[in-house]
Amino acid sequence: MKPLAQRSSLIRRSGIRTLMELARQTPGCIHLEVGDPDFRTPAHVIEAAHEAARAGFTGYSPTAGLGSLRQALALKLRERNGLEVSPEQILVGPGAVFGIAMGLMATLDPGDEVLLPDPGWPNYEGAAHACGATPVPYPLRRETGYQPDLEVLRRLVSPRTKVLLINTPSNPTGGVFSPETVRALVEFAAEHDLYLLSDEVYEEIVFEGEHVSAGRFDRDGRVIGCFGFSKTYAMTGWRLGYTVASREVTETMVRLAEPFVSCASTVVQKAAEAALSGSQDAVRDMCAAYKARRDAVVDILQPAGLLATVPRGAFYALVDVSALGQDSDALARRLLVEQKVATAPGTTFGAQGAGLLRISLAAEQSRLEEGCRRIVQWVRRQHGRQVA
Ligand SMILES: Cc1ncc(COP(=O)(O)O)c(C=O)c1O
Repeated sequence: MKPLAQRSSLIRRSGIRTLMELARQTPGCIHLEVGDPDFRTPAHVIEAAHEAARAGFTGYSPTAGLGSLRQALALKLRERNGLEVSPEQILVGPGAVFGIAMGLMATLDPGDEVLLPDPGWPNYEGAAHACGATPVPYPLRRETGYQPDLEVLRRLVSPRTKVLLINTPSNPTGGVFSPETVRALVEFAAEHDLYLLSDEVYEEIVFEGEHVSAGRFDRDGRVIGCFGFSKTYAMTGWRLGYTVASREVTETMVRLAEPFVSCASTVVQKAAEAALSGSQDAVRDMCAAYKARRDAVVDILQPAGLLATVPRGAFYALVDVSALGQDSDALARRLLVEQKVATAPGTTFGAQGAGLLRISLAAEQSRLEEGCRRIVQWVRRQHGRQVA
């Protein structure tokens, strides 16, 4: 038989998923490997989905999403993100991951280069390969609190560079870029004539600082903002996200989306309308709970010298286990077997993740604390043995 598409062989399996599967086979283990909120979707959103199904919202919607939802999103983007956009600039799809993929597909041709954060969410790299493009990692260094360095970025731009992808608040670093940094990144993109894809799925989960949408600084329609319902409303399994971009980019993304998905689930779109228009108390409560967990994690890991940086947003923390070696994949597997704590290996997020493990704060607090204590004891024991 003829070989399958070559570009698929370039897509690495996410180390998060691999650890998740190993953890499933480890009864009683503490799950800190995956970024799936342990909260339930707000009751009024669930009720709205039932109501929508009963009311007959069971057919296809337009590819770009229900007009009523896009209208509600335009309002949300104006009020919460400060973006003056029309519903025609919005594409609704099954998860932010789909919006990110469409954003890359709409801008990248085979051979083009895309600048991706390292450490960064591994799916970016996979999506770039699926487009036939070349991912070029730009390092976010621990010494700078995982903030981007424009000089480093400048050196990585080539005549083939087409897209700069940024993610704030960030998975896995917990970094939150300041408004000045976001502005500088948009200006950098303009200076080098790049599209800027801004992944803002953790926009509502900020402990210190403020989240500012890159679109606020966009002067000529080069920013593609990617947002979702998964993290904000604990709706990962519902699969709903959206992009906001210029009309031209959005029309291109809609054309590309059609042969893949037809549209997002109509029932879920109606539930999303309820999420937007209803009480936002649950969003605030979840953020407060993540912050309490963040504080608890900092209290345990920082005095032991194991915290790479204090997360200021999103719901992850990077644990520095480099005293035991740099191969984070092997370290994550050993931690699972020896201490029954599942984490995500740092290098699944890029080369800068060597010697690091990512833990997710989307776990019940006492389990999270117990997991952190086990990590501290484990490192102390191993390190003591090595030193001796
Ligand atoms: C940085 C980042 N972007 C996008 C996503 C995908 O979100 P969604 O569930 O809306 O596809 C995730 C999920 O973990 C993420 O961490």
